[in-house]
Amino acid sequence: MRVQVAIIGAGPSGLLLGQLLHRAGIDAIILERKSGDYVLGRIRAGVLEQGAVDLLDEAGVGQRLHAEGLVHGGLELCFDGERHRIDMAGLTGGKHVTVYGQTEVTRDLMDARAAAGATTVYEAEDVSIHGFDTDSPLVRYRKNGVDHEIACDFIAGCDGFHGVCRESLPANAVKHYERVYPFGWLGILADVPPVSHELIYVNHPRGFALCSMRSRTRSRYYVQVPLDERIENWPDERFWEELKRRLDTQAAATIVTGPSIEKSIAPLRSYVAEPMRFGRLLLAGDAAHIVPPTGAKGLNLAASDVRYLSRALIDHYRSGSMKEIDAYSGKCLRRVWKAVRFSWWMTSMLHRFPDTGEFGQKIQETELAYLVGSEAASTSLAENYVGLPFED
Ligand code: APR
Ligand code: PHB
Repeated sequence: MRVQVAIIGAGPSGLLLGQLLHRAGIDAIILERKSGDYVLGRIRAGVLEQGAVDLLDEAGVGQRLHAEGLVHGGLELCFDGERHRIDMAGLTGGKHVTVYGQTEVTRDLMDARAAAGATTVYEAEDVSIHGFDTDSPLVRYRKNGVDHEIACDFIAGCDGFHGVCRESLPANAVKHYERVYPFGWLGILADVPPVSHELIYVNHPRGFALCSMRSRTRSRYYVQVPLDERIENWPDERFWEELKRRLDTQAAATIVTGPSIEKSIAPLRSYVAEPMRFGRLLLAGDAAHIVPPTGAKGLNLAASDVRYLSRALIDHYRSGSMKEIDAYSGKCLRRVWKAVRFSWWMTSMLHRFPDTGEFGQKIQETELAYLVGSEAASTSLAENYVGLPFED
């Protein structure tokens, strides 16, 4: 079998790339190690920058997002027992974010791909990539015990942090930058109305907390926990008690609690692999970089990589030029590093680190007081949160 582009991974990066290429008449196959249901079962973040929303529109999958997504023009920071609103729209000339779960984005992209009759091979085993340093790369995989081989022009490595693509590179071809944080987030999803109509990011002596949502009737809440914390130690009642202790009095008194429908602990990490292109292999999304969830940038960075990648491939097939392919890694990484910096800064400002101490706590509180008291500092937070501009 031969295709123009072989996409490895059917997460948001791979599916969005597939859809944009399909609309441009470029022939692509997607190979995914897990089942479609498994991919849809993963609960992840849910805040989209305008640039990501625009790209989903361009891919023709924005309809449900516009009908059901919640448009937020601000967020709240809570510290020292008080909440302070950052007027993101007011500070950025009217920019917003849209709250719409990654699961829903994935579902919309899967439906569009099925409607277009484009091929996704789920439960593809032992996917391996070959010859990406030549003009004729190959992808091999096994399905139901039968071996398959696909010849292609390009391989898009959209296979996430634990994927095969980055792993297949010679060790000296890639430089890794990493910071692992000494805590995790315990998150629950519950069918209860959100405590506030906007997100609340909380700095508290007991640790960070976040009040987020998926809809007007479904909430997503998180509390910072030690890395070795076990989920079995957190029955719902304990979670709600701990969350309330970290909120301001009014939020703690009014929050509606209920049974969790999902509960998980996620570690926090910042990671970047450079470069993002090796010959005819192009990495996108979590395959190339990870950010801690504090800035809500993971999915948005995946979308911005895919924006650059789809445009580069479309330009190549129209003009025959490799110019945009050559520019891909540099363009992505400049934007990636800005989001890495922002997520690291939000994480540092809002969490309790084991060595924070009283001095560290004072510095954090002062940083927050400065942030909410200075229009310049609030604008910096706002412009990063709604999404920095693209190059092109
Ligand atoms: N072969 C085929 N598929 C693979 C392989 C493999 N060897 N390894 C991993 N995959 C699949 C995974 O099963 C997963 O479905 O690649 C997909 C990668 O999807 P994601 O991990 O969701 O990564 P990405 O599409 O880049 O999306 C980034 O996900 O983790 C969040 O915060 C992140 O929101 C961001 C988004
Ligand atoms: C979420 O809703 O899951 C969420 C929102 C904002 C974040 C992180 C996660 O910064």
